[in-house]
Amino acid sequence: MSLMKLPKIGLGTWKLKIKEAKFSTIEAMKIGYRFIDTAQSYGNESGVGEGLQEIFESGIIKRKDTIVATKVHPLKVRPKLTLKSAIKSLKKLKLDYIDILYVHYPAYVLGYSHKKTLRAFSQLVDEGKIKNIGVSNFTPQMIEEAQEACDKPIFAIQIEHHPYLQQKPMQQFLREEKINLISYSPLGRGKVLNNAIIKEIAERNKISAAQVCLVWLMDKGAVPIPKATSLSHLKENFAACNMQLSEEDYQKIDEISIYRRFVHPPVVSPNEWKK
Ligand SMILES: NC(=O)c1ccc[n+]([C@@H]2O[C@H](COP(=O)([O-])OP(=O)(O)OC[C@H]3O[C@@H](n4cnc5c(N)ncnc54)[C@H](OP(=O)(O)O)[C@@H]3O)[C@@H](O)[C@H]2O)c1
Repeated sequence: MSLMKLPKIGLGTWKLKIKEAKFSTIEAMKIGYRFIDTAQSYGNESGVGEGLQEIFESGIIKRKDTIVATKVHPLKVRPKLTLKSAIKSLKKLKLDYIDILYVHYPAYVLGYSHKKTLRAFSQLVDEGKIKNIGVSNFTPQMIEEAQEACDKPIFAIQIEHHPYLQQKPMQQFLREEKINLISYSPLGRGKVLNNAIIKEIAERNKISAAQVCLVWLMDKGAVPIPKATSLSHLKENFAACNMQLSEEDYQKIDEISIYRRFVHPPVVSPNEWKK
């Protein structure tokens, strides 16, 4: 396993326009976030890059203390395109290296191959362009196949993970394999926040429903990456790093039996999701 240690929380940037991504990156870094998540397909790597540049030039935070992650577009999973697209990401992000580069989707139908695509990722590590290899939207079996095919360790998996999609078997698998779990859509895209159990726990503990979800995820050892546009949401989410709930409250959330996936793009989603 790589020695890189992840912070307790990161910033998600899906759906943020370039200017919003710059704003959220700058404000998040000032608040204390040190982990920023973007993707080639979000079309905002340049905004994240501008934000990072401003922060690094101001001297408040150093590049070495920041973790930047991006993801190879599902249309760029053929090895040559992966290599080219990573160079483009570096330019847009204005960085010399990317801390985590993910395969965004195991898009077999678009040319993803455990062996060939990951060989390109491995080459990027050897060239110093990326530090760690990640995969996203993989099932445990796909991760095992990726690990067998790749000569470098799989550092992290990014999957949808919130109280309505609890990912219990995946967590067990990742603990055994010592792979970091990054939880995307940790607030269920905002739709979990109205759940009666979450709301009751939030009110009783005098914290927000978003904080309840984030604290619950962090307690599992997962790293949530909530997306937030407003300063108040950015601050509120970061403050969750220093909060805890009682064992009874964690258990109440564990027992929520609603099952809902909010992100399932056609064509690139694993077939297993349809079962
Ligand atoms: N790997 C993948 O395939 C994949 C897929 C989906 C997402 N992701 C990553 O995961 C990140 C997070 O997921 P997401 O953007 O889908 O959803 P999310 O983080 O679960 O929810 C974002 C929504 O919650 C709102 N919100 C944020 N903080 C809040 C708070 N404290 N109180 C109330 N509402 C709050 C945001 O509003 P405001 O914007 O107004 O603050 C936004 O509407 C993405 O941005 C992306 O980086 C990855």
